[in-house]
This record gives sequence, C-alpha cells and structure tokens, in this order.
Amino acid sequence: MGGKINIAIDGHSSCGKGTLAKNLAKSLHYLFIDSGAMYRAVTLYLIRNQINLDEVKQNPNLLDDIHISFQFDEDEGFYFTMLNGENVETLIRGMEISKRVSEVSAVKEIREFLVRQQQKMGKDKGVVMDGRDIGTVVFPDAELKIFMTADARVRAQRRYLELQEKGIPADFEDILKNIQDRDLLDSTRENSPLIQAPDAIVLNNTDMTRDEQARIALTWAKGVILSA
Ligand code: DC
Repeated sequence: MGGKINIAIDGHSSCGKGTLAKNLAKSLHYLFIDSGAMYRAVTLYLIRNQINLDEVKQNPNLLDDIHISFQFDEDEGFYFTMLNGENVETLIRGMEISKRVSEVSAVKEIREFLVRQQQKMGKDKGVVMDGRDIGTVVFPDAELKIFMTADARVRAQRRYLELQEKGIPADFEDILKNIQDRDLLDSTRENSPLIQAPDAIVLNNTDMTRDEQARIALTWAKGVILSA
C-alpha cells in the first residue's frame, strides 16, 4: 500500500504536459523527465554535426555519441537539458528545432535509442514522464496515464507568451501552423504515433488554469498511489 508509481503524461504539442508533469513531480517528490526535450536534443546534435536522417537509419551507432541528461537548478526550480555536458535548454526550444523535431522523432532507430534510456530512468518507479508514447510504448504498465489536449489556438497563444517571456523571437501564426503541423505528423507517423492509451484519463485543459489542472491530476495520482 502507498508504493511508488510511474505516471505517463501524453498528449498534443504545447498543451502544458511539461508544466503539469513538473507540478506533479514536485508535489510527490518524484523525478520529472521531459522526453520531448530528448528528441529535441537529438535534433540539435544532428543539425550541428550535419548528420542526415538516412545516415542515422543506415548506421544507428552514430547515436551512441549522444549523451542526454537533466540537471535540476535549485535556485531557478527548473530542469535544464544537457547534451554532452552542455546546457542546451534555450537552444532546443527555438523554432528551428521545433520545425525539424517531428521528422527526427519519426525515425524508428532514434525512437528505439531514446525509449531504451527512458525505460531505464523509470525502472525504479517514482517517475513522471511526459511525451507522446509514454503510456503506450515507454511505460505501458504505468499505474497512472493522463492524456492531455486543448484547443490549438489556445495552445499557440500559451506557447507564444512563453517564448516571449524567455526572450525568444516568435510569431503567433507561425507557432499555430507549427502546432497544427506537429499534431498531424505526430498522430499519423508510422512509428509510435500519438494515440490515447485505452486506460488513459483525458484532461482537456482549454478552459482550465494551471492550478486547477495540477489539483485534479494530484488527486488522481494520490488515489492511485494509495491503492498501489
Ligand atoms: O513535447 P515537445 O513538443 O517538446 O516534443 C517535441 C517533439 O518530439 C514532438 O513533435 C513530438 C516528439 N516526441 C515524440 O515523438 N515522442 C515523445 N515521447 C516526446 C516527443
């Protein structure tokens, strides 16, 4: 009774999965893992090293030089994504990476490489991971699965404000189109498309504040933990 569980949070782009996952992890003293950041870091690595996707498919060992980790900054209360020892958190959130990441994440060899690492991170339980295939592929046995969605324009507006706050140049229509394109690519790709796990609970947060979502999800999590 009351053992640790894994929590899988999947859903569409920019609907606040990361924020909800971070809030849950903090309240439960669990580890938060942003699996999308891992796909973004791989995208950055491939661009920088001018490696194209066909080369990766032919020689997946090229990926073995990529080391991704997360560092928690106590002062900022924030997780930084590290790529081969470098903090790439700001770089991976820019539009260049956002535009390329869907095609990178559609490659089977890249998914296998990252899924292996994600499964290792969750083997002792106590993990909140957000992404697209966490409840279906990475942790099919997660004790709590949440599938998040929200209206695309509301998501674009939130992402626009977030980028502005971080000082990253942004254009609303560009962001909206990127979100719609990614919804389509993520849901129609051949390898691990974004689908709702049959045992996931849907959270549509179009009209919810962050606090409301956090409260609801925490109630669900505590209920599951008590019976775990
Ligand atoms: O969550 P995000 O927007 O940072 O994710 C970036 C991209 O990575 C997104 O277009 C889909 C992909 N992704 C994925 O295919 N599987 C995951 N588990 C997480 C992200």
